[in-house]
Amino acid sequence: MPFPEERARRLRRTANLRAMARETELKPSDFILPLFVTEGKGIRQEVASMPGVYQLSVDELVKQAKRAHETGIITLILFGIPAYKDEEGSSAWDAKGPVARGVNAIKQKLPEMVVVTDVCMCEYTDHGHCGKLVKREDGSVDVDNDATLDLLAKEALCHARAGADIVAPSDMMDGRVAAIREALDSEGFGHIAILSYAAKYASAFYGPFRDAALSTPKQGDRKSYQMDPANSREALREVRLDLDEGADIVMVKPALSYLDVIARVRESVDVPVAAYNVSGEYAMVKAASKAGWLDEERVMMEILLSIKRAGADQILTYHAVDAAKVLNR
Ligand code: PBG
Repeated sequence: MPFPEERARRLRRTANLRAMARETELKPSDFILPLFVTEGKGIRQEVASMPGVYQLSVDELVKQAKRAHETGIITLILFGIPAYKDEEGSSAWDAKGPVARGVNAIKQKLPEMVVVTDVCMCEYTDHGHCGKLVKREDGSVDVDNDATLDLLAKEALCHARAGADIVAPSDMMDGRVAAIREALDSEGFGHIAILSYAAKYASAFYGPFRDAALSTPKQGDRKSYQMDPANSREALREVRLDLDEGADIVMVKPALSYLDVIARVRESVDVPVAAYNVSGEYAMVKAASKAGWLDEERVMMEILLSIKRAGADQILTYHAVDAAKVLNR
């Protein structure tokens, strides 16, 4: 009888053997729930391409935060959908804007909730780019890196004043972590952390988010500031630059097509590594399960587990509440 020297199946024989041998386990506090905050009252508008995700007015945002909190989620990230947009994106530092009011309201009701705010200009500019525009000679547009840094610093300060625990720049301008760190420190916010979207790729998987946040660029694309999906060494460089500038947590985004990047970044740093399970990844799961082609719950948990196994400490995911409920039962 052929008898292999080594056997791998013995530890898979029963549920408890498998549990005992399990290397990676998810918990609700691994998740960071993204929420979209809008003006008005009583608004809970579902995003067509993201079933189960809503644009929420501040009152509804607080209710959603409470529901998440009850499932064991301890961290939220807020995205603003302002009523007013202009060329500069001036609503980004409006102390009465949706993000500032949203942070404030959540902190009043749930002071222990960790609140992160997304810092970027694309939701606030009328052209939809992530910073101040310059025209090139051929008529195309680009974002002016250095002129954008001041705007991001003002936005981050506004969020910190409103009570954010962590600010998360997602614009991909060079030097923005240093600019934000300096602005925070000089105004007495030395204790506020920076989660930088360090390796953020120019990805087609952001499509549904741009529907939700109304932030699709009117002209051109984001390839001159977001990373080329072909590159992973470059991700390590982006991460190193952001850490040198003072980032406390570094993020890889998207997650699923970039698990190799998550793993490489995890090995190269000793700070927490976050990964963003983005809108397009969520929409695919929702669409395929609605059609009856995939088992939504099992696929969701497998995806989240894979992101953690790759090395992510925190996972930004629209599945957060549903996944936490699965973990709690
Ligand atoms: C803003 C921002 C985007 C996302 C997070 N912050 C969109 C973009 O860069 O176009 C995408 C998140 C998602 O797709 O879920 N710059």
